[in-house]
Amino acid sequence: MYRTSRRDLLVKSAGVAAAGLVTGSCTAPKASREAAPLSSAPAGQADWGTLRGQFRLEPGWANLALFYLASQPKRVRDAVDHLSAQVDANPLVVPTGMRLPDGPTGWPRVREALAAYIGGRAEDIAITASTSIGLGVVYNGVRTRPGQEFLLTGFDHRAQHMAADLAAEKRGARVRMCSWFADPATATAGGIAAAVGNAIRPHTRVVGITWVQSSTGLRMPVRAVADVVRRANEGRSPADRCLLVVDAVHGLAAVDEDAARLGADVVVAGTHKWLFGPRGTGLVWVRPEILDQLHPTFVSFISGGGAAPLSPGGFLAFEHAFALPVAVAMHQEWGRARVAGRISELATRAKQGLSQTRGVTVHTPMSPELSAGITCFSVAGRANRQVIDHAATRRVRLSALASSPYTRLGTAVINTPAEVDTAIASVAGFAR
Ligand SMILES: Cc1ncc(COP(=O)(O)O)c(C=O)c1O
Repeated sequence: MYRTSRRDLLVKSAGVAAAGLVTGSCTAPKASREAAPLSSAPAGQADWGTLRGQFRLEPGWANLALFYLASQPKRVRDAVDHLSAQVDANPLVVPTGMRLPDGPTGWPRVREALAAYIGGRAEDIAITASTSIGLGVVYNGVRTRPGQEFLLTGFDHRAQHMAADLAAEKRGARVRMCSWFADPATATAGGIAAAVGNAIRPHTRVVGITWVQSSTGLRMPVRAVADVVRRANEGRSPADRCLLVVDAVHGLAAVDEDAARLGADVVVAGTHKWLFGPRGTGLVWVRPEILDQLHPTFVSFISGGGAAPLSPGGFLAFEHAFALPVAVAMHQEWGRARVAGRISELATRAKQGLSQTRGVTVHTPMSPELSAGITCFSVAGRANRQVIDHAATRRVRLSALASSPYTRLGTAVINTPAEVDTAIASVAGFAR
């Protein structure tokens, strides 16, 4: 179980936190341009090779770390350039009306496009510049009484840990770290939901989970967790309600689900990873029934009511934010189910290949229902940095979290089976 503490973050050290918690236990709080094999695409739909051509990735490299920050497709880059030229010509165009080639754009269009994609309503969406900012807005904004607690696991990202720690410190609340499984590879949906149910206390104000954990690749069974949270809330007043907050950044545009219909109270995501949106963009979706439990933290310049006041304001990178509908439209054209299917197919190939490689242990569940596009593994006797560096000598890009010993292989929709095989071969050549 890995957790980056506030101090770790402040001194930028990369420590591995305490390991070995058993299911349900909790700790005391710490304040190539390579030719892509083309799948058969239904008539009218782009094939994967054509999509790949939209990206100016460095040729000759198999980049299996695209979930870190998106490389932007040409259509998104062009939209950003188009809008940027308008702001540079006349900055007053921002309030009076910026335009994409197909018509006007601005906050209402951005919120409507995202709402259509996540299966929610535009008024329930706040706009942020990243997942981290969204998590800060949410934890800082939850009306919390002294003595209440936020429940997380060490496998959530430090962006969520820090948001919870910082807010808890201000409110006299605490962060309690639990574990929903002993080993991600053998976790089950029922076991995870039961562990969450067992951990909730009357003073638990937030259960914070990660849709797809970037530390393990495990996809949390959000609906099953939402059911246990709902049961725990029976008879509670709004101020005592336990809110289910989901860091959804690696599920959005990687999993074929409506993020707003998972049963969560709050969904937070950057749109600059799997969605291939402009850098510096993200969203917070809030279930309208709990909106009054969230206080705005910043001044917001977005009008329109609902969750809009939760959007951090000021003059932002408008050319990025207002180009988001183009990224959403691209995904809608590609088809969310088809994109998620491709990501999962590539991930399954990676997991199967790695698990058959001597000296390699795959830590992400094999089941597509409990995983998405991130595959975490370790190589016996090798640190993850060594694995990454060795793969780079074979022109393969892999990644790792500073706080975890696992190496990560991410399968974006524009990766290819051949790239996955190259990555597996690079690891096999290194495993002892
Ligand atoms: C699970 C998770 N949450 C949050 C973040 C931070 O995302 P952002 O860069 O959008 O703040 C990351 C970074 O990759 C992550 O893996």
